[in-house]
Amino acid sequence: MKYLIIYGSSGSGTGKTMDVVNTLKEHLGADFIDVSNYKLSFFDYTHSNKDDDFHGIAQQMVCADCIIFATPVYWYAMSAQLKVFFDRLSDLITIRKPLGRQLEGKMLTFVATGHDELLPEGFHVPFKRTAEYFNMGYTEGVYVCTNSKVFDPIRVHEKMIQFAESF
Ligand SMILES: Cc1cc2nc3c(=O)[nH]c(=O)nc-3n(C[C@H](O)[C@H](O)[C@H](O)COP(=O)(O)O)c2cc1C
Repeated sequence: MKYLIIYGSSGSGTGKTMDVVNTLKEHLGADFIDVSNYKLSFFDYTHSNKDDDFHGIAQQMVCADCIIFATPVYWYAMSAQLKVFFDRLSDLITIRKPLGRQLEGKMLTFVATGHDELLPEGFHVPFKRTAEYFNMGYTEGVYVCTNSKVFDPIRVHEKMIQFAESF
């Protein structure tokens, strides 16, 4: 299996989500994309941004068997960085349909971190519904509470290994 992690956080490369994702990345030997390091603009109805970095990332997605989105919870939802990327998936059903069709049969899941004990209700919906839209398989994501009162690096490491081995 070839894994691709697509990560978006204001902590770009150094934050709590990155700490959690590192275990997964190493255990799976996954390819890794931090969307903050790419030129990606908001979805544009006129597609004037069609030559930015989205196309290259989409090509990496179709080369993977499993795509793992990684995000902190910001205001009860995925990070703005990742949401910009999600909106651009619309390119795959408009100007880049052949590429979009190649997502069929791949697996999609997510890793999220947040301060609260539990993920907010409905957090998983964009991930699950996006997988359904592209005829991909969906595996329930994993959530890690990073509140220092409960965060235990060893347990989190074990949880991520268990998650990685559940695919
Ligand atoms: C702008 C912002 C909004 C946040 N909103 C939430 C939230 O709605 N629910 C939650 O559990 N944690 C929230 N948090 C806490 C982060 O999700 C948590 O600290 C996360 O592990 C940070 O990961 P990062 O270092 O990759 O940004 C928020 C943090 C920030 C900076």
